Amino acid sequence: MPLDQAENLRRLVEQKKGNFSRILKHTICITSGKGGVGKSNIALNLGIVLSKLNKKVLLFDGDISLANLNILLGVSPDYNIYNLIKGDKNINDVIFQTQYKGLDLLPGSSGIKEITNLMDYEIDRLKSQLQLLEDKYDYIIVDTAAGISNIVMGFVLSSDMVLLVVTPETTSITDAYALLKISVNEKRDINVKIIMNMVDSKKHGKEAFNKFNLLSKKFLNKELELYGIIEKEKKVSEAVIIQTPIIEYAPNSSFAYAIKNIANLIVKGIKPQEEKDSSFVEKFLEKMKNFNIYK
Ligand SMILES: Nc1ncnc2c1ncn2[C@@H]1O[C@H](COP(=O)(O)OP(=O)(O)OP(=O)(O)O)[C@@H](O)[C@H]1O
Ligand SMILES: [Mg+2]
Repeated sequence: MPLDQAENLRRLVEQKKGNFSRILKHTICITSGKGGVGKSNIALNLGIVLSKLNKKVLLFDGDISLANLNILLGVSPDYNIYNLIKGDKNINDVIFQTQYKGLDLLPGSSGIKEITNLMDYEIDRLKSQLQLLEDKYDYIIVDTAAGISNIVMGFVLSSDMVLLVVTPETTSITDAYALLKISVNEKRDINVKIIMNMVDSKKHGKEAFNKFNLLSKKFLNKELELYGIIEKEKKVSEAVIIQTPIIEYAPNSSFAYAIKNIANLIVKGIKPQEEKDSSFVEKFLEKMKNFNIYK
């Protein structure tokens, strides 16, 4: 990340440390640095499991210009975040009720270039629409794009919990570390949990996590927590091809099992909090505005 960009992020975090009313509760951001490591599949299946635990969940496709969650779900929503930003539709038209009771989707758009370069008034419109979601959901799960753009960092720094998905590949570890480093520099107490995906065995996953944790402890002075180990299995790509969430397609797979475990940890781990010092919507959208500067 260029220095001026990092500096701008830091400035915005400073500006946003003041008190804001809490708008969205329990935001969980799923991110990775590197692309193609399993974020969207984890986000979707986690959303389904949480909804089956009787939670009201919003899946927010944070990959706003290359939407994936609708594809993985096998649905074609009429509207998406683009309509919301352009003001053609309001939040209630855009939120898509999935086939899973309690699970809604805020779809991303696909193939619309302008969406990565929003005007301030469009961001304000998005903000006022998102504010209407107040208290509607127990959990909001944001599936981010790959990379370390300001928009991804906006989600990461605004969420209550960050699930950082890492595979044992060196490039995944390097990119996840880069993202973690910026996050910890910006927000020392950031709540990051690690999910090791596409490992050959649990032992392999644990070893890869230990290496990553060692890096984090040594250079960032941050001890990490392992939230799940997911083995590489061919059932995942089979499920993707037939556009059926793996939790449905292969409920006894190690993937499904690991996701159920993570959902239980989340339910136990993130307790309702009446008062928070800042709001996800406020922080995130300010960072989106910032994102424009570099387009
Ligand atoms: N545990 C796994 N075993 C085997 N394949 C997996 C596993 N997890 C994910 N995959 C495969 O990896 C591919 C990428 O998954 P996914 O789209 O969820 O990743 P992503 O991190 O969201 O990607 P992007 O960064 O492009 O948004 C998919 O084709 C999926 O089938
Ligand atoms: Mg994805």
